[in-house]
Amino acid sequence: MMDRRQFVAAAGATLALPSLISAAAADAQVVPSLDTLAKARGMRFGSALGLGKPGTLEGGFADPAYRTLIAAQCGLIVPENEMKWGVLRPSADQFDFAPADRLVAWAKAHNLGVRGHNLLWQHPRWTPEWLTAHDFGSQPRVAGEKMLTEHVTKVAGRFADVVHSFDVVNEAIDEKTGTLRETSLSRAIGGTIETIALAFHAARQAAPRAQLVYNDYMSWAASSALHRAAVLKLLGELKARNVPVDALGIQGHIGSNGAGVATTLGRQTEEWRSFLDAVTAMGFGLLITEFDVNDMGLPADIAVRDQAVGELAGAYLDVTLSHPQVDTLMCWGLSDRYSWLQGTSPRADGLPKRPLPYSTAMRAKPLRDAVAGALRAMPMRAV
Ligand code: XIL
Repeated sequence: MMDRRQFVAAAGATLALPSLISAAAADAQVVPSLDTLAKARGMRFGSALGLGKPGTLEGGFADPAYRTLIAAQCGLIVPENEMKWGVLRPSADQFDFAPADRLVAWAKAHNLGVRGHNLLWQHPRWTPEWLTAHDFGSQPRVAGEKMLTEHVTKVAGRFADVVHSFDVVNEAIDEKTGTLRETSLSRAIGGTIETIALAFHAARQAAPRAQLVYNDYMSWAASSALHRAAVLKLLGELKARNVPVDALGIQGHIGSNGAGVATTLGRQTEEWRSFLDAVTAMGFGLLITEFDVNDMGLPADIAVRDQAVGELAGAYLDVTLSHPQVDTLMCWGLSDRYSWLQGTSPRADGLPKRPLPYSTAMRAKPLRDAVAGALRAMPMRAV
């Protein structure tokens, strides 16, 4: 690892913005790092990291200042898209592991752990077109089971030595109805619950030491009550069927999507606490897998906005991390520059969103203080 002086020189040379970058470099190296704070309580801290298209800055990986920030503040990364069907499986019989391998190699070289995301995204919108159109033939169940088992075995098996925790199934519940989502694959297999069960059993076989996670975006918002109930029902059914699920991944995309006021948003602190209690009472572990704060409903003024985002994050993290079962906190990116939320619905005033702990110039924001404060305040985990 280079020291700060060497880093500033290198960053200034590559990006030709010496004064800005030297300040940003200082912020990247803020100590204790978020991972150090998490480790002091027996927990881990990390971030998603995306490769982007070759030759562009679309994913943060191409940006050396961003890589430095991630390496300095995190204990682990999760590839933002590179382990998903849509990227690593361009067709039924083709696998492209190059993007995921690149991120994993970088993580290893920087002594960072890796989470795997995801082995099955049970959502038609994120199912690759070729799979939606796939002909499963005269015995669809057999063909569907074979395809899913092969996929999970291949992907989980390939990364089993480095990935200690996999999101095996992502977003299987339609939050508007509380029912399980169907895709071409689960239709072929003959049921979503059977599909989920198969994915977890195959993952356990391929990566027997890994933590296996069901990951979803239920939240503390009042509008999420039906979703929370459906997640509890699903976890109960999976447990009753002896499906090897170790933990619930709480995505943690909080804030306003524009439908409400972000600072309140009908937050249901007590309902959220009871939800988490019910999950842990069933014996499941917990993680926050994709934390960020959507500031769509907040004022333009940056100081006001950052303060409100920090307040919201602090309150959410305090109640969630008060459960010692939460063993990991992952942000969905560290710098606003590379947040996926910039590409989703824009703010009414058209200003860039500020959903992550560091600014586009990689400067620490009040949200970083809020995350650090919550990590310092949470109870010790059993290690
Ligand atoms: C998002 C990525 O950040 C985007 O780059 C991509 O276009 C779509 O997916 N929940 C998840 C993540 O489980 O995989 C999503 O990631 C964000 C919402």
